[in-house]
Amino acid sequence: MTIRTMGFCVVAFWLSTGWVGAQRAEPIQPISPATIDDPRMMELGKKLYFDPRLSRSGFISCNSCHNLSMGGSDNLKTSIGHNWQKGPINAPTVLNSSMSVAQFWDGRARDLREQAGGPIANPGEMAFTHELAVEVIASIPQYVQEFETVFGTPTVDIDKITSAIAAFEETLVTPNSRFDKWLSGDSAALTPTEVQGYEVFKTSGCVVCHNGPAAGGTSFRKMGVVEPYRTDNPAEGRVAVTGRDADRFNFKVPTMRNVELTYPYFHDGAADTLAQAVDVMGRVQLGRRFSEDDNAKIVAFLKTLTGDQPTFPLPLLPPSSDKTPRPNPFAPTSTR
Ligand code: HEC
Ligand code: HEC
Repeated sequence: MTIRTMGFCVVAFWLSTGWVGAQRAEPIQPISPATIDDPRMMELGKKLYFDPRLSRSGFISCNSCHNLSMGGSDNLKTSIGHNWQKGPINAPTVLNSSMSVAQFWDGRARDLREQAGGPIANPGEMAFTHELAVEVIASIPQYVQEFETVFGTPTVDIDKITSAIAAFEETLVTPNSRFDKWLSGDSAALTPTEVQGYEVFKTSGCVVCHNGPAAGGTSFRKMGVVEPYRTDNPAEGRVAVTGRDADRFNFKVPTMRNVELTYPYFHDGAADTLAQAVDVMGRVQLGRRFSEDDNAKIVAFLKTLTGDQPTFPLPLLPPSSDKTPRPNPFAPTSTR
């Protein structure tokens, strides 16, 4: 699913479940459960997502930095990559990322498939090459068999690897948050304080940017609309992709879904707590200083956006064969 416009989709339908209520017409819509088109492809992608053999060290998997036990993030200011390198930017969650207009803070990858090739070959992350990653996977007989079942041919290539990972990532959605229950007409799902927090979130203008089912991910916006945002982080956002000066410090608006779990906040990871992040947003985006009470209400609302986390038995990875190139944990990034 891709949300291309900021238009507030107004959907109203009657639910036929236990309590009958009307879908509320709001700038944030409920998240639908994942539909799995190709379960075998998804299962293969799940294994690859957890497989550290896609990295040079043989130690770093997608899950190292997008830990599904921790809201699909690493809870670090900036990630740690190959050889304990300090990453340049905060790792966004993979949860619900299929709903974003594009991937990465600056949107440089169009979709999840294009994105998934990035970290494998990024010298500061998994520090491998696509060729070597393919070589490793192709040396593991159970993988080759699985690629044949899923794709009809046993050849392993990077496109198949990234397609499978993307198919798995598309299932990483988090429906049934308390806010979604409220949106679907269950008024008892939120406390009065949480509803008031949502009202402040709406009336003060947060929803202008944080909207759609993911409450974010629908646009690129300037960080520091009213007041400049001060940071030591050199990232300049969207300008890196478009080269347009007007895009300097424009970042993809992050999702508010599961934001309770994905601290610290902002592209530089500078805000440790939700209260801090809300305070900064109020000041730099809207020119507002929230009272402690309003800040606490917004935070209470944001915590209602935590949905059902993906749960499944841990995938069992097929063993390396005698021919599988061995991990090289301390290899300098530049060597083969
Ligand atoms: C070393 C840590 C690290 C590893 C390993 C890693 N990532 Fe990431 N990931 C990041 C960081 C940091 C970003 C943000 C980079 C940016 O925006 O410039 C990111 C961004 C993403 C995004 C974009 C999310 C969004 O909202 O824009 C997705 C999706 C993603 N990674 C999936 C993966 C997958 C799949 C793998 C495994 C193939 C992987 N990552 C491996 C750290 C990591
Ligand atoms: C003009 C658009 C805009 C408005 C208005 C806005 N935000 Fe944001 N928000 C963003 C952008 C862009 C980012 C990412 C900025 C960055 O990391 O540099 C962000 C980041 C956040 C984050 C951190 C999320 C994360 O995962 O790092 C929170 C929390 C947040 N906003 C809450 C709010 C609240 C609450 C309001 C209203 C008081 C609000 N925002 C108003 C655009 C906006």
